[in-house]
Amino acid sequence: MTAIETTATIGVIGAGTMGAGIAQLAAVAGHPVLLFDAKEGAAAAGRERMVAGLKKLVARGKIDAAAADAITDRVHPVATMDALAPAALVVEAIVEDLDIKRKLFAALEDIVAPEATLATNTSSISVTAIARDLKQPGRFVGMHFFNPAVIMKLVEVISGVATSKEIAETVFATAENWGKIAVHAKSTPGFIVNRVARGFYAEALRLYEEQVADPATLDAIMTGAGGFRMGPFELMDLIGHDVNYAVSLSVFTAYYQEPRFRPALSQLELVNAGRLGRKTGQGFYDYAEGSEKPEPVGETASPDAVPVEGLGPGIETEIDGVALMLTDGRTAREVAAETGRPVIVCDLACDGASRMAFAVSPDVPENVVARFVATLAAQGIAATRLPDWPGLVLMRTLAVIANEGFEAVMQGVSDEAGVDTAMRYGVNYPKGPIGWAREVGLARIVAVLDNLHRLTGDPRYRASLRLRMALQD
Ligand code: NAI
Repeated sequence: MTAIETTATIGVIGAGTMGAGIAQLAAVAGHPVLLFDAKEGAAAAGRERMVAGLKKLVARGKIDAAAADAITDRVHPVATMDALAPAALVVEAIVEDLDIKRKLFAALEDIVAPEATLATNTSSISVTAIARDLKQPGRFVGMHFFNPAVIMKLVEVISGVATSKEIAETVFATAENWGKIAVHAKSTPGFIVNRVARGFYAEALRLYEEQVADPATLDAIMTGAGGFRMGPFELMDLIGHDVNYAVSLSVFTAYYQEPRFRPALSQLELVNAGRLGRKTGQGFYDYAEGSEKPEPVGETASPDAVPVEGLGPGIETEIDGVALMLTDGRTAREVAAETGRPVIVCDLACDGASRMAFAVSPDVPENVVARFVATLAAQGIAATRLPDWPGLVLMRTLAVIANEGFEAVMQGVSDEAGVDTAMRYGVNYPKGPIGWAREVGLARIVAVLDNLHRLTGDPRYRASLRLRMALQD
């Protein structure tokens, strides 16, 4: 399917955080852009923010001044919605309210040409619901950008019940033409990214509530072992706990209190306390002048301990009679009892990891732990010893987010490649969770979930039927 031609006019409604960025993207691609906002002066202000952003790019030598001027010249603030009549595509980025969006599109439908495409940037409202009263709901689609729209690569192209396949394909191709990576998704709460990402925060919050480790240690494991750019706690502090908690609650409610999406009381307490994260100066971390970031908990490698040759993350072997295994969700005590051998259970760690978490059964001698820590240290890997807890940290989190990905695939929200692309480019995950789970081995991922389910009794850990079936493929 071909993209909307770059000579065609694009309308953007709502010139706030998202709208101004979307207008810039369309203008960079070469389109004339009409920018409308109900608030007087807001469209001009949005354009000014865009100009300021482009100036910075010029100063940094990313684009030349003439190109920046040409982009700016293509963006025209307009005072009325009627002025959007020539638009071939209108992208709406106004307040997140179903009734207001419905009213806006009802009016817009009579302004634009019958062949124009209408898109919403909604992050949480059903695309199907917004389109309900339209005369031509087939031309209505979700075009979900991520914040900041100019930088984040992903666009989820959301089809509602009535969206025509051609319109979804055209918008997909148009998003790619604007330099984005597009994925198709079905209109369901949270679409792909805001649904699959819930587990990244939720498992971190559970581990914290279960007192397995403090936020700094959990963040260090997720970044050091998993290659995530930010740990879940620093990311929630950045997003704002009010926003992050509200999204969690809205997804939980939308899925009829599905336990997988149950929000965390510890996060609600931060909201209650007004500790919303960076924007208020305190969240999980303190951002006041002079405050220092807490250090993660880690083992100190003893200079006397002799590293073991040929041992690396994920390699199952033994040290001095102590078994070494990658977690399958059983506790070290369980494994030791079942095998009659002491065991060090390792968390998942990706290639090039700088940290790895582990737990030991009670009968592991300390000098073996010291050799294990020294072995990792010799490879530049910091070791964090955790309480003997099922699934540890990275493995537990991956199992949960991959499980959600499989569930979304089963429900036809997207396919496996779509889920992985969405998570890599919508929230910068180092790898797509489904591909990552396949690398680890789906049998182990299912075992982790089954063991978490058995030990916690919490239905949030039940494995998706699609994941279980994938084991039989
Ligand atoms: P914002 O509050 O920064 O901007 C909204 C703009 O829309 C304001 O300038 C406001 O004056 C204008 N507006 C409100 N009602 C209007 C109407 N009836 N007609 C014309 N203009 C109107 O909001 P933001 O953050 O840009 O969000 C806009 C949409 O994008 C929402 O649907 C939101 O869920 C979605 N979104 C937001 C993301 C974010 O991180 N901020 C990410 C992805 C989607």
